[in-house]
Amino acid sequence: MRVTILGGGGFLGRKLARRLAAEGAATHLTLADMAEPPPLDAPFPVTCVAADVTDAAALERAIPDGTDVVVHLAAVVSAAAEADYDLGLAVNLRGTLAVIERCRGLARPPRVVFTSSVASFGGGQDAMLPDDARQLPANSYGAQKAAAELLLQDASRRGMLDAVSIRLPTVIIRPGRPNKAASSFVSAILREPLLGLETPLPVAEEFRVWVCSPRLAVEWLRHAMTMDTAPLGLDRGVNPPGLCVSVREMLGVLSPAQRALVRPAPDAGVQAIVGGWPAAFAATRARALGFAPQPGMDAILATFLEDDLAATRAERGL
Ligand SMILES: NC(=O)c1ccc[n+]([C@@H]2O[C@H](COP(=O)([O-])OP(=O)(O)OC[C@H]3O[C@@H](n4cnc5c(N)ncnc54)[C@H](O)[C@@H]3O)[C@@H](O)[C@H]2O)c1
Repeated sequence: MRVTILGGGGFLGRKLARRLAAEGAATHLTLADMAEPPPLDAPFPVTCVAADVTDAAALERAIPDGTDVVVHLAAVVSAAAEADYDLGLAVNLRGTLAVIERCRGLARPPRVVFTSSVASFGGGQDAMLPDDARQLPANSYGAQKAAAELLLQDASRRGMLDAVSIRLPTVIIRPGRPNKAASSFVSAILREPLLGLETPLPVAEEFRVWVCSPRLAVEWLRHAMTMDTAPLGLDRGVNPPGLCVSVREMLGVLSPAQRALVRPAPDAGVQAIVGGWPAAFAATRARALGFAPQPGMDAILATFLEDDLAATRAERGL
């Protein structure tokens, strides 16, 4: 299996690459990102390339002929796409069109695993979304993801490629530092206290969010790379079985001393974006398609402690 990961230097791209290496699951892996991703130890050849997904020539290098699976993670994330409309459109929409165009040029249509988002839905805090819920995004990032999903679905129907679009929940606990996603605080309110650091809480403790661990997100991507897509039919979008939790429930996994480091700091800008995202999905179809469900908050905490705490401490010099 010849695999390309676009956005392969990012958070989930890096984790998926390590998982493929540990499994010996590929015959060749190309990691592509804006800057050339660092090398990866693997039992198969790994090529690391600098490639902007909006650049057709760069995509020819990133997706060589014979590629079986393209995992398309390259994106301008939520708050950044809201702040810079042109950049969001260029990367999230036109970049995906360029990926489709490249896949059309391959001798054999590849599997394309695309990461869409809960942000492609509206509905807000009180919604429980069924599998056939309409995508009505309340932000530009979500609109770009939903549009990209439609184009991938049509390209699948036409036999140009074979897409699975996973509408990822907010992935927590993200290692490293806060980033430009509007949901950055959802990880920060656990990660920073676990590192002994103070962190602001921009929403109320009643605020609920649809989450999954990085390990499970990677598990879903891995499943989508090789699953039988016949049962998907025309509908290439999947709402995977994440976990609906309130901020209060999340903070419940911290010690009292750690919890005291989370300081209320209401932020209308963040609330305006994340308040529109639905916090619960039925996710019945995804379970039937073999996507594993997210166990509770304790499992999410354990995943961070096992996979990412030491590396985060080292990266931040703590
Ligand atoms: N992490 C989450 O909570 C979450 C939730 C929902 C959806 N998603 C989606 O999952 C995917 C991966 O998320 P992540 O958390 O790993 O994000 P990330 O920001 O860590 O990784 C994305 C990568 O894309 C790269 N990129 C940006 N513009 C590019 C371009 N023009 N050409 C090539 N590469 C480019 C970035 O350099 C980065 O390394 C994204 O598509 C994101 O929208 C993530």
